[in-house]
Amino acid sequence: MTDGVTPDSEVVLETSRLLLRPWRVAEADVQRELWTERDPRVPPHRRIDADGRPTVAELAESIRAHRLWSTGLLAVERKASHDVIGYCGLVDTGRGPAGEPELAFELLRRVWCQGYATEASLAVLEWARSSGHERLWATVWDWNTASRRVLAKVGFTETERKEVDPERGTTLFTVIRL
Ligand SMILES: CC(C)(COP(=O)(O)OP(=O)(O)OC[C@H]1O[C@@H](n2cnc3c(N)ncnc32)[C@H](O)[C@@H]1OP(=O)(O)O)[C@@H](O)C(=O)NCCC(=O)NCCS
Repeated sequence: MTDGVTPDSEVVLETSRLLLRPWRVAEADVQRELWTERDPRVPPHRRIDADGRPTVAELAESIRAHRLWSTGLLAVERKASHDVIGYCGLVDTGRGPAGEPELAFELLRRVWCQGYATEASLAVLEWARSSGHERLWATVWDWNTASRRVLAKVGFTETERKEVDPERGTTLFTVIRL
């Protein structure tokens, strides 16, 4: 695995099967597909609303406007087929202590269970370590078995901290020391 920072500070990470790199505006349709595939238990503000929003155009504008999509939540591209299958990266949600971002990932359903999230996460953890982070967080719904498994596989452990939502489930806070 190699990782590096391009001259304009955009991040590019490489693993055996994947390239993690900034989103391109033209890939907004992949983000839209991720939105349409979300579990019904995911809160409404992260699901397509009754008016069909966010639209592909709105997601394209978000890619254009927010550095999150070039330096935080990176597009996961398969090297063999050059298709983008989701994102993996770091995001500052403010839920953890200052300077300790969260690992986040989401992939298209058609590529699940092939080890991609694990492979991408390991690359992001290495990037975080080499960038000087000492600890990262990840939050996960208690019912999200696949995500909990990925987090455990890459070394996160569950803490005592939990947030209970009677309708949607319990959010577990997990942590890794790098
Ligand atoms: C979570 C997610 C990214 C995992 O991606 P992935 O590429 O399929 O993950 P991996 O293949 O690396 O690993 C998945 C692991 O979960 C296991 N798993 C998947 N579904 C499972 C289920 N229903 N029950 C038990 N284990 C399950 C797989 O067997 C695998 O573990 P293993 O290697 O020990 O066999 C994907 O499911 C996803 O995008 N989910 C929706 C978004 C999401 O939940 N994001 C995380 C928010 S915290």
